[in-house]
Amino acid sequence: MTALSLTSALKDDILVVGLAQGAPARKGGKASLVIESGELALDTKTLEEILTDLGATGKADEVIKIPGNSVRLLVFTGLGKASQQYGHETLRRAAGAAARVLTNQKSATFALPVRGIQDVSAVSQGAGLGAYLFNEFRSDESATSTSPLAAAKIYTPQASKAEYKEVANEASVIAAYTHLARNLINTPPSHLNPSTFAARMVNEVKVAGGTRAGLSITVMTESALKSKGYGGITAVGQGSANPPRLVRISYTPTGKVKAAKKYAFVGKGITFDSGGLALKPALGMEAMKSDMSGAAAVCAAVLAIAALKLPIAIDAWAPLAENMVSDNATRPSDIITIYGGKTVEVLNPDAEGRLVLADALQRAQEEKKLDAIFDIATLTGAQVVALGTRTSAVMTNNQALSDAFVSLTEKTGELFWPMPLPSELRASLDSPVADLANIGDRMGGMLVAGIFLKEFVADDLPWLHLDIAGPAYNDRSPHGYTPVGGTGIGVRSLIAIAQEQI
Ligand code: BES
Ligand code: MN
Ligand code: ZN
Repeated sequence: MTALSLTSALKDDILVVGLAQGAPARKGGKASLVIESGELALDTKTLEEILTDLGATGKADEVIKIPGNSVRLLVFTGLGKASQQYGHETLRRAAGAAARVLTNQKSATFALPVRGIQDVSAVSQGAGLGAYLFNEFRSDESATSTSPLAAAKIYTPQASKAEYKEVANEASVIAAYTHLARNLINTPPSHLNPSTFAARMVNEVKVAGGTRAGLSITVMTESALKSKGYGGITAVGQGSANPPRLVRISYTPTGKVKAAKKYAFVGKGITFDSGGLALKPALGMEAMKSDMSGAAAVCAAVLAIAALKLPIAIDAWAPLAENMVSDNATRPSDIITIYGGKTVEVLNPDAEGRLVLADALQRAQEEKKLDAIFDIATLTGAQVVALGTRTSAVMTNNQALSDAFVSLTEKTGELFWPMPLPSELRASLDSPVADLANIGDRMGGMLVAGIFLKEFVADDLPWLHLDIAGPAYNDRSPHGYTPVGGTGIGVRSLIAIAQEQI
């Protein structure tokens, strides 16, 4: 993990600065280039001329490296349109794009236009999030010896102030646990199944300090799940040679710190979604190794919240199963009993996420004094159709909670857009033989899935359902601080929920 720190002096061989598109010198002319190095003074005139010669544009995601005089390497990272005040996400992405291309480098100083502590926080996070590689399964020398930027120093005259150091430390924690989520997502189902996922979490809790850090973990095995009536998790997992698990990681603040609120986080943990007997088409099926992104997010978030010692109690629940095809797989028309007693007719075994979530949501609510419950899941293809690959959806039974959450996106940069749960769609989930069917109207499939989950949440408990199907996994090109593969989306939002106590 890249070491993040602050500096008020330029000592590195590598300097990262911003490049923006300024107003044209004359009307109708070409946009001029503006070097944005914040409070670090640079002789920009000649550099701007060189960059113009090189065809630089200053657009977001453009990164240009040139040899320097006083430093060995100058790195220009695009900020888009020049501004007096760059947005946090603009800065986060620009820092991330630069960090991403600085592989095998020891150290770089980031001098970007930061005005105040929130900007420093954004640049620190961007650098930490961007410096990520997943090389675990490569055997060739050249790939295995490639490593992310080892140290990022954020330039600010306030470097020695305690509250500034605090945000750099917070950024390290956020980046490290986002990397954990990405690693879990990128690990293929040959190496990550419900039991190995659970074992890795047991180890992570130990490494994070265990009870000393206020953390505890329990893992329920398949036989325990069966005997306790977790019909959703067992029905989804029963077609696989790798049996299901339910992981719970709890955090309560230690010492004098008292928990102001208590939240439950529930994350969908399908370690591979073949579709079951409703087998998915081969094209793109490999991306379904990412169907545990919600579980990865809740586990990473609770560990980060513990590392940050936030004054909040969290129960993170990860219902883990592998949705496979076999003579023992759940058949269309099977009726299962969700934890707590509701029956569901499984019309489509590919609508499995809602079944494991229903069990976990019910179980999570047995805990006393919850202030709110949040679920996060790669739940529906309809989410991707509606909002694309970079914007997630939020659905709720509590408008105020949803509004507070959406306003957090300004802080985190993770895009979420509110979606309704129209009551007329509920009837499409009626079953002639059970309390509910697991599929309903195909139109508005994301909302139907949300309405299904709502059946398993108490009306008076504030609840958010986050569908991250599109943004969880990037099978296109890297951009900003986002790599190819698992993105770790949701980790920052869950941490922010605990920080802001929404
Ligand atoms: N894991 C998928 C949803 C998904 C699709 C996630 C694309 C990421 C990218 C989920 O289990 C699923 O298969 N949903 C079905 C539901 C349908 C059968 C009602 C879907 O969306 O097609
Ligand atoms: Mn599915
Ligand atoms: Zn799925």
